[in-house]
Amino acid sequence: MGRRTFIIDCDTGTDDAIAIIAALYSKDMEVVALTSVNGNVAHQYTSKNNLNLVEYLKADQVLVAKGAEIPLYPRGNYYGTTHGQTGLGTITLPEAKIRTFCEDNAIEMIRKEAKKQKGNLELLVIGPMTNIAMAISLYPEIISEIKHIWFMGGAVRGGNVTTTAEFNIWVDPVAAKIVINSGIPMTMVGLDVTERAILNRDDEQRVRKAGTKASILVADILEYMFSRHSEGGEDAMMHDALALAAAIYPECLTCIDYYVDVECEGVYTAGHTMVDVRGKLGKKPNVSVAVDLDINKFKEWLIGCIESSV
Ligand code: BDR
Ligand code: CA
Repeated sequence: MGRRTFIIDCDTGTDDAIAIIAALYSKDMEVVALTSVNGNVAHQYTSKNNLNLVEYLKADQVLVAKGAEIPLYPRGNYYGTTHGQTGLGTITLPEAKIRTFCEDNAIEMIRKEAKKQKGNLELLVIGPMTNIAMAISLYPEIISEIKHIWFMGGAVRGGNVTTTAEFNIWVDPVAAKIVINSGIPMTMVGLDVTERAILNRDDEQRVRKAGTKASILVADILEYMFSRHSEGGEDAMMHDALALAAAIYPECLTCIDYYVDVECEGVYTAGHTMVDVRGKLGKKPNVSVAVDLDINKFKEWLIGCIESSV
């Protein structure tokens, strides 16, 4: 089997950057484009981070397209401090001098690639789902042309923004509702598993020792995450790389098919992913949901991808 074709839709983001780097050096996939969305930080930063990253890593074959600057259902300012002011913590990548953004925006990019790949395009969605919702709303014919969506978002239980909502879904619940109800085959990798996907200092040392440009960048991002954690922030959780693992190395996860929908309103529940684990609603499952993780397998795989960078 040849390499599988992916677009990564992302709000880069520290852990997004690590997922992108692992994807770029995975033998199993070809990343045709990075499409950016507003999320962890404003779109001006997430898009620039993607452009700077591909130039820095000389990923010349990867197209970079700009996407949505605001959610379909904006509800105020939600930029936090988790990813620093520009999205990459304290890391400053050199400004891209050669690479430029594609003329096509994210929506057009997804439409064109879906057609071009004739049913073989897969999407790794690791930010709010605004671009994907817009693409399938504008061009519903691509619903049958997208092979699978692997997304980081939601949770069976709990949340990291509110008691019931995970960040990516919370930022744009309307977009998530459109995508999750689209009928496209999909896998949800939520906080139930991603909050356990934590790298530690030993892992960071191993990654740094590989000594490549990419591995040193990952190690520097991890350093930022450790210092953030020591100041009371989030640990070095590999939320987005775990969604990549679901696609490329599913052996590290256990998934169960459930019916999932999204709550868009509610004082306490906006952005909640309703996962019908007991089948109370009698509806056909629409999402394969990651419920358990083999952390050692995941870490070996992720570190292996980064160590293999050239
Ligand atoms: C998600 O939100 C972002 O902070 C991360 O990049 C991840 O995609 C986790 O809730
Ligand atoms: Ca993200």
